[in-house]
Amino acid sequence: MNYGYFDNTNREYVITRPDVPAPWTNYLGTEKFCTVISHNAGGYSFYNSPEYNRVTKFRPNGTFDRPGHYVYLRDDETGDYWSISWQPVAKSLEEATYEVRHGLSYSKFKCEYNGITAQKTLFVPKGEDAQIWDVKIRNDGDQPRTISAFSFVEFSFSHIQSDNQNHQMSLYSAGTAYNEGVIEYDLYYNTNDYEGFYYLASSFDPDSYDGQRDSFIGMYRDEANPIAIETGRCSNHVQTCYNHCGSLHKQFVIQPGEEVRFVLILGIGKGEGQRLRAKYQDVANVDAALADIRAHWDTRCAKFQVKSPNEGLDTMINAWTLYQAETCVVWSRFASFIEVGGRTGLGYRDTAQDAISVPHANPRMTRKRLVDLLRGQVKEGYGLHLFDPDWFDPEKADVKPSKSPTVVPTPSDEDKIHGIEDTCSDDHLWLVPTICRYVQETGEESFLDETIPYANGGDASVYEHMKAALDFSAEYVGQTGICKGLRADWNDCLNLGGGESAMTSFLHFWALQEFIKLAKYKGLDADVQKYTEMAANVREACEQHLWDEEGGWYIRGLTKNGDKIGTAQQAEGRVHLESNTLAVLSGLASQERGEKAMNAVDDNLFSEYGLHLNSPSFATPNDDIGFVTRVYQGVKENGAIFSHPNPWAWVAEAKLGRGDRAMKFYDALNPYNQNDIIEKRVAEPYSYVQFIMGRDHENHGRANHPWLTGTSGWAYFAVTNFILGVQTGFDGLTVNPCIPTSWPGFEVTREWRGATYHIKVQNPNGVSKGVTAITLNDTPVEGAIPAQPVGSINTVNVIMG
Ligand code: NOJ
Repeated sequence: MNYGYFDNTNREYVITRPDVPAPWTNYLGTEKFCTVISHNAGGYSFYNSPEYNRVTKFRPNGTFDRPGHYVYLRDDETGDYWSISWQPVAKSLEEATYEVRHGLSYSKFKCEYNGITAQKTLFVPKGEDAQIWDVKIRNDGDQPRTISAFSFVEFSFSHIQSDNQNHQMSLYSAGTAYNEGVIEYDLYYNTNDYEGFYYLASSFDPDSYDGQRDSFIGMYRDEANPIAIETGRCSNHVQTCYNHCGSLHKQFVIQPGEEVRFVLILGIGKGEGQRLRAKYQDVANVDAALADIRAHWDTRCAKFQVKSPNEGLDTMINAWTLYQAETCVVWSRFASFIEVGGRTGLGYRDTAQDAISVPHANPRMTRKRLVDLLRGQVKEGYGLHLFDPDWFDPEKADVKPSKSPTVVPTPSDEDKIHGIEDTCSDDHLWLVPTICRYVQETGEESFLDETIPYANGGDASVYEHMKAALDFSAEYVGQTGICKGLRADWNDCLNLGGGESAMTSFLHFWALQEFIKLAKYKGLDADVQKYTEMAANVREACEQHLWDEEGGWYIRGLTKNGDKIGTAQQAEGRVHLESNTLAVLSGLASQERGEKAMNAVDDNLFSEYGLHLNSPSFATPNDDIGFVTRVYQGVKENGAIFSHPNPWAWVAEAKLGRGDRAMKFYDALNPYNQNDIIEKRVAEPYSYVQFIMGRDHENHGRANHPWLTGTSGWAYFAVTNFILGVQTGFDGLTVNPCIPTSWPGFEVTREWRGATYHIKVQNPNGVSKGVTAITLNDTPVEGAIPAQPVGSINTVNVIMG
């Protein structure tokens, strides 16, 4: 069963049935102001941090995704009313037709009901801390109609998310005022703080308004039947204290065939409502702002476009996977629709991985994130697992406390910097390949020499930071020479402490390989030698202690008592995805062991919805292994199809040269391919999710936690760089695909350092891997293609065989 389709021409997903089994969401905003919005217009806005600057209220995890950013329409001749989004009024789908188009950083809601076609487009203009609602109402009938339009948002009563539940004072220190078409909401009595002011403004002169939620909705009612809509008028009630909303009402008499258009603006900053009201009264400015958003994504998507025999791959890589990856880079993981979104900052490993995928599309943000992460690294080499980058940014370090002195404490150094007991064994290592990727993409080698402070004092060049990361992992090893597991590795629920993590050692090996390439390129021979020796030691320890001969795969690690996790002898947690895929991805495993290990992955972990993280799932609690053994079977880290490491398997198979297998794994996880089984998947088909229920759970196939998952970045990186094989390295651009044998070829357009490359790959002999000839502008090339002049348009022909 499906609820919509992909419109690739417009890069939109079109929801044709609104009664989707879960809210299907979108992220609006490319800079500081963000709205997380569902196909029902439920959701919330925030500024910079979903924890500290919540603009509108949202009740997560309900059976309704409410409240939201609504426009109600009312036929003033009959009193009948509806909303442009299906919810909250929810007219019968027999009587009304709804369509939602989620695009890149905008969402369009359309409703046809009783002779009226209404549309609402939501987006956040670049350069403004506000959200635009562009509303159009057309009379499709042959009689004039009298239609009232009402907006509604519920303001967050504290700007701090958790205080909406537990801070009494916030209820009494905030208030609304009405000021010429603008509901102004002052969060701290008489504050002049930009961030302490929210507003809802309209381009029209309202006939009535409400700033008080309970006046608008009325007691013992909800968003589906507000008293103001029923009576056809707001109460003109603004007030200090209690719960606040923004509702602006206007009545229109619309002639047959006529369309009225108006704009609502939700934003922050004192005086900003008046300024933007004036600006967007001219709808040409609205059109220009939306065109700007489209151009923003046109530019980014143009960096890599593919045309292949796999339509689902093209759809996802050309738009949605890049879009999701960037959403993670920009907003990190805490602006969730599913969870409460009550946190600020970065997860070290998450951001370090996300950033590897977008240096071509958003080099500025990638660089910023790298600097954030480097400032969040301690001089001993490890990263601070969860941290607020503002704490370590000299320009922002004291911004939050001065804004709201009573409620946001300044963290002490002990709060900011954790010791080894809270350190994850993998966090810092992800940084190394990502920095290499950034330099390869941009050519900004001077970044490596930039001096960046450590979180706990002292400073060093970026290059030295990388060495500190590698050295830390060489030092923190257990008895066998495998990295200690510490608080956790990539798997949050594998809490090995002094036990040893195979996954981290394989990751260490990969980081070392990438670093050695960099050191060679820089001609730093002493480092090449030191880190090559380090890598040899890692390899030896891994091959000696982690290979399970009986199973023919790599184990997952050892407990602090030396018990192996993930052997053929075990009934639970026998085969694991992370260790086997990273053993191959990192280049550590030999071809023979690599093939065996990935065969074991296919035999034990594959399902039609993707690869399981481990199998069989753990059924017996064992705190030496960790919390994973206490999670329900088939769920999350305990035997679900955990999406994030799936692309590691695609890379591993691509490295082994098995393109059919790589594509089999890719296709299974690709949400696009689950568009027609929403009764199983439930979640949106244009976004990867964190996990899909595994076969040990009764809801096998149900997808959970869309959007904020490292899967998107890895999926993008794996497909573009390893399956399609278009890589930009220190020495130039290379094309070394690993594709299904059935593909006759594919085309990629790649922009790199200001030049364009039209790459045409032909596969006349139906191979998976191997390139026999490459030409650049009809001239044969050996090795990498050096960066071509800025502005040049180049043709690259590749013959596989
Ligand atoms: C989600 C976390 O954000 C991520 O850091 C972690 O790697 C995965 N869960 C797996 O535990």
